[in-house]
Amino acid sequence: MTNRVKVAVTGAAGQIGYAILFRIASGQMFGPDTEVELQLLELPQALGALEGVKMELDDCAFPLLKNIVCTDKMEVAFKDANWILAIGAVPRKDGMERADLLKVNGGIFGPLGKAMAEHSAPDSKLFVVGNPCNTNCYIAMEASGLDKSRFFAMTTLDEKRAKTQLAQKAGVDVTEVTNMTIWGNHSATQYPDFYNAKIGGKSAAEVIGDETYLKDEFITTVQKRGAAIIKARGASSAASAANACVNGVYALTHDTPAGETFSMCLASKGEYGVDEGLIFSFPCRVENGELKVVEGQEHNEFGQEKFNATLEELRTERNTVKELGLV
Ligand code: NAD
Ligand code: LMR
Repeated sequence: MTNRVKVAVTGAAGQIGYAILFRIASGQMFGPDTEVELQLLELPQALGALEGVKMELDDCAFPLLKNIVCTDKMEVAFKDANWILAIGAVPRKDGMERADLLKVNGGIFGPLGKAMAEHSAPDSKLFVVGNPCNTNCYIAMEASGLDKSRFFAMTTLDEKRAKTQLAQKAGVDVTEVTNMTIWGNHSATQYPDFYNAKIGGKSAAEVIGDETYLKDEFITTVQKRGAAIIKARGASSAASAANACVNGVYALTHDTPAGETFSMCLASKGEYGVDEGLIFSFPCRVENGELKVVEGQEHNEFGQEKFNATLEELRTERNTVKELGLV
């Protein structure tokens, strides 16, 4: 039987939108047996550009792509959508932290959560890319009143960045690096956990054998990679962010290979002592279609300190959005 999925993409004419739509339409996000309908949302001033993107999608004649809707109305874009990819938001510029975008972008996510509740499919899920993605997701979740298990934000790009850094340092193929967990916030406080990560099935920390590098240069490189790209390119990451979004939704919709985990920001149920409802990045697995946070990983004193710092930042962001009246 052929499946079909309706995918709403916000900010569809932006940088990430341009890089992701062709990959969704080619089947890379939901697999080769799933047909897709794209429901694309843009601001009114970007509808002209979006029409051009639609023409290009048409010109690819993708066998799995069955319909394209372009609109500036959330109720049209979200109508019966199974997945909402919330990319539409302003990116930061050189010298800014992602949390500086809260005042600019936070206001988008309350109405988005409400529209999701009113118009999307009963099984719909939200995957937030627009920054600061954890707290934007929290705002949407709170506004929607929907079950918290339907809300996700992206640390997939950080996970990929961390895997490549470890592989390059160890001189191994990137496929050798597994169980690379990003804990906490998609921000400069995130904790890429090299103690629980593995290289060739062994502890990455032991294989690399240089804790000074891992505690300092490795963590900082991953935490600040987004800023380094903005500095180099003059624009924030786009193709790699789109790739991460494809991979992140794929990870949520397919069983995880034996022994592997993936990083995903989702509403805490209290795992690892994280406040219930905070959108926090954990190690996850999907087994027989069911998503689980992998429990029982241990942190030494250094790891616990890093974990606490990113948790504290997310609590502060939650308090800020409360003060701003966004939740
Ligand atoms: P962009 O400026 O190129 O595109 C954003 C698009 O969103 C624009 O076309 C704009 O018209 C549209 N838009 C703005 N507000 C909207 C709204 N309310 N409804 C619908 N559309 C709206 O930006 P980009 O480079 O594509 O980045 C998008 C977001 O993704 C930024 O916030 C960026 O910081 C974030 N990002 C997150 C990650 C991550 O790992 N989580 C990675 C890269 C970028
Ligand atoms: C990234 O990590 O590349 C994005 O979140 C963009 C940014 O502002 O860093």
